[in-house]
Amino acid sequence: MTDIAVVPVAGRGTRLLPLTKSQPKEMLPVGRKPVVQYVVEELARCGIHRLLFVTGPGKTAIENHFDIDVELITHLRLAGKEELLSELAFEREDLEYFYTRQRRQLGLGHAILCAEPVVGQMPFVVALGDSIIGRHAASQVVRRMIDVFCSEGVKAVVAFEEVPREEVVQYGIAQPKDGASDVFELADVIEKPEVDEAPSNLAVAARYVFSPVIFDYLRKTAPGKGDEIQLTDAMRAMIRGGHRTLGIRLPPGEKRFDIGNFESYFEAFVEFVLADPAVSESLKQRCRQLLEVAWGARR
Ligand code: G1P
Repeated sequence: MTDIAVVPVAGRGTRLLPLTKSQPKEMLPVGRKPVVQYVVEELARCGIHRLLFVTGPGKTAIENHFDIDVELITHLRLAGKEELLSELAFEREDLEYFYTRQRRQLGLGHAILCAEPVVGQMPFVVALGDSIIGRHAASQVVRRMIDVFCSEGVKAVVAFEEVPREEVVQYGIAQPKDGASDVFELADVIEKPEVDEAPSNLAVAARYVFSPVIFDYLRKTAPGKGDEIQLTDAMRAMIRGGHRTLGIRLPPGEKRFDIGNFESYFEAFVEFVLADPAVSESLKQRCRQLLEVAWGARR
């Protein structure tokens, strides 16, 4: 089975302006690490060894982040700050990095198509670079998705998470074939439907496993929602073409943190720092005081 993951990071992050004007949203901090580092660590734990980033303008900070920074290492040693070297241990993970560019902003589906020359005829994982799964990226969901992909012999396995009904407009939404158990077959999937048109509240949760068959469908996919070539539309065509596609629900302990908009980014940040052992006690105290003031003012 595959050990390659495609990590699309080419989007401009316009929902997070002005934060993302000159820095990639994938490099925004969530506690002590940038978002994309959690994504890479999660994938490494799931057995991925090769990472292909599909980048775009203004994204070189991501490449720099995963380089081995000999100058910084030397500086820390000379300055007697060896204890900080452990913070750079992720640079030494047994991973290979590849980068390609999406030269035009034509949407997520098009970004995945840009991966084809590197991925070739092997199944592959897609992990969106702006979403963390599980609090310390400890999620094994991609591993389970790969196992289901292999044992069921399907053409795609997609992670889903229940979202409040009003949020279906932000995500790809599942139409399960018959009931949505932990692993379920998809009858259809719809990109960002209106609330009253959504067939469920199960949202695509940023992790996918695909057979290379998806590339054939992506090539034929016309621009859809937002005038972009949508991955969801290619999946939809693939299902209609008779290719069995499964959904897998994120378990309760492995929820997805979406760093694509301010509200969920802030929530993720707060949850991560409140769980940071070095600062959590003092932060909780401070938060309690702030909340008492805020609630007091409301009464
Ligand atoms: C993309 C996909 C959508 C998916 C979402 C997950 O949307 O098009 O189907 O649910 O990622 O994060 P975007 O957030 O890029 O608008």
